[in-house]
Amino acid sequence: MQNKNLDVRKAYLEFFASKGHEVIASAPLVPNDATLLFTNAGMVPFKSIFTGEVPRPTPPIRTSCQTCIRAGGKHNDLDNVGYTARHHTFFEMLGNFSFGEYFKTDAIAYAWEFVTEILKLPKDRLYVTVHENDDEAFKIWEKHIAKERIYRFGDKDNFWAMGDTGPCGPCSEIFYDQGAENFTSDEDYMGGDGDRFLEIWNLVFMQYERSADGTMSPLPKPSIDTGMGLERVSAIMQGKFSNYDSDLFMPYIDAVAKLCGKAYEYESGASYRVISDHIRSVTFLLAQGTTFDKEGRGYVLRRILRRAVRHGYLLGIKEPFMHKLVDVVVAQMGSHYTYLNDKKETIKEQIRLEEERFFATISSGLELFNAELANTKEIFSGEVAFKLYDTYGFPLDLTADMLRDKNLRVDEARFDELMAEQKARAKAAWKGSGDKSAKGDFKELLEEYGENEFIGYESLESKSKILALLDSEYKRTQSLKANERGWVMLDKTPFYAESGGQCGDSGEIVGVAHVFDTQKFHGLNLSFIETDKELKVGDVVSVKVSNERSEIARHHSATHLLHAALRKILGSHVTQAGSSVEATKLRFDFSHPKAVSAEELDKIESFVNNAIANGAAAKTEIMSIDDAKNSGAIALFGEKYDENVRVLSFGDVSKELCGGTHVKNINEIGSFFIVKESGVSAGVRRIEAICSASALNFAKNLRLELDEIKTELKSVEPLTAIAKLKDEIRSLKERVKNAASSQNLDFTSVGATKICVANTKNGDIKTMIDGFKNQHESAAIMLIQVDEGGKISLAAGVKNASIKAGEWVKMVAQILGGNGGGKDDFATAGGKNVAEIENALKAALEFAKEKLA
Ligand code: SER
Repeated sequence: MQNKNLDVRKAYLEFFASKGHEVIASAPLVPNDATLLFTNAGMVPFKSIFTGEVPRPTPPIRTSCQTCIRAGGKHNDLDNVGYTARHHTFFEMLGNFSFGEYFKTDAIAYAWEFVTEILKLPKDRLYVTVHENDDEAFKIWEKHIAKERIYRFGDKDNFWAMGDTGPCGPCSEIFYDQGAENFTSDEDYMGGDGDRFLEIWNLVFMQYERSADGTMSPLPKPSIDTGMGLERVSAIMQGKFSNYDSDLFMPYIDAVAKLCGKAYEYESGASYRVISDHIRSVTFLLAQGTTFDKEGRGYVLRRILRRAVRHGYLLGIKEPFMHKLVDVVVAQMGSHYTYLNDKKETIKEQIRLEEERFFATISSGLELFNAELANTKEIFSGEVAFKLYDTYGFPLDLTADMLRDKNLRVDEARFDELMAEQKARAKAAWKGSGDKSAKGDFKELLEEYGENEFIGYESLESKSKILALLDSEYKRTQSLKANERGWVMLDKTPFYAESGGQCGDSGEIVGVAHVFDTQKFHGLNLSFIETDKELKVGDVVSVKVSNERSEIARHHSATHLLHAALRKILGSHVTQAGSSVEATKLRFDFSHPKAVSAEELDKIESFVNNAIANGAAAKTEIMSIDDAKNSGAIALFGEKYDENVRVLSFGDVSKELCGGTHVKNINEIGSFFIVKESGVSAGVRRIEAICSASALNFAKNLRLELDEIKTELKSVEPLTAIAKLKDEIRSLKERVKNAASSQNLDFTSVGATKICVANTKNGDIKTMIDGFKNQHESAAIMLIQVDEGGKISLAAGVKNASIKAGEWVKMVAQILGGNGGGKDDFATAGGKNVAEIENALKAALEFAKEKLA
């Protein structure tokens, strides 16, 4: 019997290591391959070895456990996840690879040995399939397994291709019979759609490379690519009929059950499974630097999260919850994928914020959906689906998923139409040069000349020949007339084309044209120019990069120091999420869950300035990507790197993969200032900074501003002057307030004199008395106020009237059980008999009237 507790991942890698294979760590989920959205199979990182674009490694046989995502492109399982026992968006694929070394005989023998002797799956439960034309594989299998157990199928089942283009070949699959007693569907036969016979391992005999036009050319050497899903093999080993019942998934399902407070049952449990699957994809993609976005991979990530949130909603979870499940992913997978541990908090924060964004619109979106549903017979309106997408953030496949159990579908054609219209509108609004998606004569140029040489690391000037000219629509032309704009391709060019965040160079074609910008199109380095004189293909010209380049280099090198400082001071979870380097400023986006504090910013700034002061020479080395990573150079998840990369280091401060242009020694950077820290999106922060001449200008401007402030305040100590001003403002405000309240005081008149006697709750009685006296030519006013402790204050003011304030308050104070006195025009007193206030007020008024009578 199989060993239920076997660590399948470890056993697999050890088995193939014992057969001489090099164990390779999982490559990023975002592949170094523009033809793919995500790494969707174990062979993806090795594509260019299979096709012979790069030399085969030593040893030419490898094994890996590759994390994969199938949620877009040719292999897209998103729609099925949750509703079947096997589908996942994220899974781990075990594989062994031979690059022209062993072929079918050994691949089959290894697979059989592993399945029967390591996994110890009973032989009477195993079946295999081969391609209908592959007699060779059939014969090899016959040595291991009875021929009744070998099935032949056509291309649909037994031909594997990575994508529309790339390596491919016939394949042979191993099946496991989960037992007739457990399955009842009519489809439960070998080759049927039932679940009883389960494919556990696909051995691909890679022989061809398919090109975009569909032609197949043979690979340099027949090779092997095998793939075994860790999740399904683990389930079989544990005697489970669904991957989700295995110990790889039950912890997630249990956690979801806890969150929604309802026990999980297989039959009705699709939502639990969707969430359990999706949290793994989301966590891994975020950990590797993909962020939620409106398009591309970031949009797939958003779709996966939103689909999970909606399933949580179905389970009654009406507040953000997905972020809470990150702990389960880290507990389950963090010991093998150790980078998850560092990133845990950032990932949680990113998910929480994204959930909040969706929760803000989900209920209104669902209302719209339900209203439309009530009107739907068969096809759900494309307009409403688009509105759900555009206004409420419901991805199309989410709407489709909501219609699934009702057997309805969306009018996708109409949706696509509306989407295309919107894109066209957006494009019309977009103006500018260097549109990378532009269609132009690039292919022709590449075929004719190949990529042109960049010589700008060493020189900023050259004599170059004009290989080609393009008009502003990217069409080839033999010449550009005077005062025309277009693109120039030089045979060798010192102009750096925008990439890796560094802006494209400007400069001049001496005496002939101004260079505004330089961009890369499919590897071609082209500069955007405006001519002064006519320019023709074949002309040999002097070109010169603008002096700005040295400032750009300083800002670029400062960006590397900033990156190092961030990792040092905030932690190694900091990953670059975007960068922009110009001659006057730099901007660096990075993953970090919360705002960077003033104290941290100060430390970061100091770290960079110390490094600059200590100086360190730039060292560039060209090495293989693997050597670069092993040497500790910072590489970005998802960044496309060639097999050989340029590694730039500054002493022991910074080491990064980079193709940009830099200073020779970091002490050229001068000073470095952080000018702003802000948030970009969920869990992504931005630092804007400046160095060198910009830093000097920045400091100069600050000084100027300070001088102006001093002049304006008429003080060399502006802070003291400001404190004084603030005090003045405070007391003025108080006075204005009191003056305003004194305007509301009631008074009676005796002759020309206005008499006011009142108990006021708020305000300063002295100021109010002054206010009253200012308002009237002849006035007699007495105000009484009781504080919280029951202490009574009273004051009287007299102006142009025959009342002596001192006498007046004294009389009233006695009624209040206190004492006081003062001058004729102003006097104050205290008291304590609060119960006597009414009497005191009456007496005060009578007193005044008598005196004036
Ligand atoms: N590339 C094949 C697959 O994905 C075997 O690894 O099935």
